[in-house]
Amino acid sequence: MSKTALVTGASRGIGLETTRRFILNNDQITTVVMFARDSEDFDAAVAELEAELPIGRRVIPVKVDVGDRGALKKAVKHAYDEVGNIDILVNNAGYTNPVPLQQIKMADFEKTMNVNLYGPFTVVKTLLNRGNRFDLIVNIASTAGINGRSGWLAYSASKAAVINMSQAMREELSIYGTRVVCLSPGRTATALRKTLAPDEDPSTIMQPEHVAQVINTISSPVGRFIDSENIVVRQ
Ligand SMILES: NC(=O)c1ccc[n+]([C@@H]2O[C@H](COP(=O)([O-])OP(=O)(O)OC[C@H]3O[C@@H](n4cnc5c(N)ncnc54)[C@H](OP(=O)(O)O)[C@@H]3O)[C@@H](O)[C@H]2O)c1
Repeated sequence: MSKTALVTGASRGIGLETTRRFILNNDQITTVVMFARDSEDFDAAVAELEAELPIGRRVIPVKVDVGDRGALKKAVKHAYDEVGNIDILVNNAGYTNPVPLQQIKMADFEKTMNVNLYGPFTVVKTLLNRGNRFDLIVNIASTAGINGRSGWLAYSASKAAVINMSQAMREELSIYGTRVVCLSPGRTATALRKTLAPDEDPSTIMQPEHVAQVINTISSPVGRFIDSENIVVRQ
């Protein structure tokens, strides 16, 4: 049976690589709705994927800021009305601005929570209220959510909340047959990692396609045998 996926933060990094694997290497997924903000990079990523698409498969780009709750709800409703049921959701969009505790601006803390925590919650709630039945929700947290890191307070706190929220979702949605997986990557060579560790050599750490491969396996039929509340993926 053909499945539809929605991936947030699909313009680059782990989200783009996940979209690529879903649409090119997953037997079941035929449609991927891609959420990211408007940018030339996003347009280029979509064009590149579209050039490779096998017959009968499609990607649907949606330009939306996951941190803008009103716009996000609208975009989710619109996507549902256009493509129908979202079977697999990957809440991947992430934001961080690492600064020492004394310098954290409340507005920036709120933005971190909006993008990393309230965004994923809003996508799930809006779809459920629309009548959506998920097979699988993958929430991307971080190893920084398991142990708080110096200088990363807002980011660590938001990711810790994602881990806990995923446990609650997992318990609450199991009656619908929905699997909820929380996946916590360790350091991965992406733009976000560059913000967290500007001096690190990206070639020495895990690549986004490695994490995407794990997400694709979780999303394949064999994925239902992987039973873990918080899957840690790291070198
Ligand atoms: N890289 C690591 O070491 C690492 C480790 C643990 C967890 N993670 C998590 O993995 C996820 C993916 O990050 P990544 O490492 O692949 O980083 P990335 O390459 O920088 O990608 C981040 C993605 O999130 C999107 N995004 C950010 N703010 C957004 C917003 N307000 N609205 C919509 N989209 C937004 C970006 O899209 P636009 O900017 O184009 O909108 C981009 O597609 C994040 O949740 C991150 O916290 C990463």
